[in-house]
Amino acid sequence: MKIGILTSGGDCPGINATIRGVCKTAINHYGMEVVGIHSGFQGLLTKEVESFTEKSLSGLLNLGGTMLGTSREKPFRKQGIISDVDKPALIQRNIAELGLDCVVCIGGNGTQKTAAKFAAMGINIVSVPKTIDNDIYGTDVTFGFQSAINIATDAIDCIHTTAASHNRVFIVEVMGHKVGWLTLYAGVAGGADIILLPEIPYDIEKVIAAINKRTKAGKGFTILAVAEGAISKEDAALSKKEYKEKVAKRKYPSVSYEIADRIFEETGVEVRVTVPGHTQRGGSPCPYDRVLCTRLGSAAAQAVMDEDYGNMIAMINGKTKRVPLGEVAGRLKTVDPDCQMIKEAKRIGISFGD
Ligand code: F6P
Repeated sequence: MKIGILTSGGDCPGINATIRGVCKTAINHYGMEVVGIHSGFQGLLTKEVESFTEKSLSGLLNLGGTMLGTSREKPFRKQGIISDVDKPALIQRNIAELGLDCVVCIGGNGTQKTAAKFAAMGINIVSVPKTIDNDIYGTDVTFGFQSAINIATDAIDCIHTTAASHNRVFIVEVMGHKVGWLTLYAGVAGGADIILLPEIPYDIEKVIAAINKRTKAGKGFTILAVAEGAISKEDAALSKKEYKEKVAKRKYPSVSYEIADRIFEETGVEVRVTVPGHTQRGGSPCPYDRVLCTRLGSAAAQAVMDEDYGNMIAMINGKTKRVPLGEVAGRLKTVDPDCQMIKEAKRIGISFGD
């Protein structure tokens, strides 16, 4: 058997460890031939590939980024590096010309959607879920999430001492435009006083009341963990189009700066915003993710060997499972505002601004 492997969408810690898991199993255990496809689906358009040997797979377990490179190329959309051809048909031809029996796609929600479309065209696909956002439907956890929690928590930890010294309000903006898993976990782990998530529209007056309550109780500082996609109650009431237009006109680089201005206007307390940004996707995968990547990668190669295509390899209750891509594609796993973790966080005094 000859298989191709690609990594698509935003990178995150653990992609190389997953490539290693897939390839070691495929090459060493099953005797398959493996080619690495460069820059995600772009490499299937340009046929930019390299053959992997056992030797190419050393030093990958703890290496951040992706050795194959990635892109946000969406072959089912016209825009991209090539726009004047039928891209899905070209990719189908290229897969046949490269002699690939299956393509293993490592990626986030966009990748799962693309993989599902290729599977529906009859192309043999197995996918592995990856994202720091942990928002892929059908799996308990995605690799990259735990590593990113560590980084975002470190950022909040570092802010704690300086916030206490200066009696300021600090906002740490955590990645996640659509879902708040990373902000929720890093916020709780870092001891944030206020956590704002896309799933729980905030009332700025409640946020300010939570800050004032702390000040009255003699606490000199307040830390907010704010998701990139945090949204006020008023903005959440707008239509998607109206909200997009409002964001396009917004004078602030992100929602955190808008919140910071409102807090300063109403309390007079100095506010600082820290954005760890892409550091949350950088560096080595943590040990939990290394194990997850190794298991998902090995299970993906096994699914290929079984010729059980059209599935995403998920981790459910500690076991690797094959979930049909059709069930995963286009669905987001969001934070339930009424979940136990949020109730418990509220009971220990964390405000969600609602
Ligand atoms: O999906 C992963 C993610 O890191 C999000 O949390 C973030 O909003 C987005 O990607 C950033 O994308 P880009 O790297 O294209 O700026």
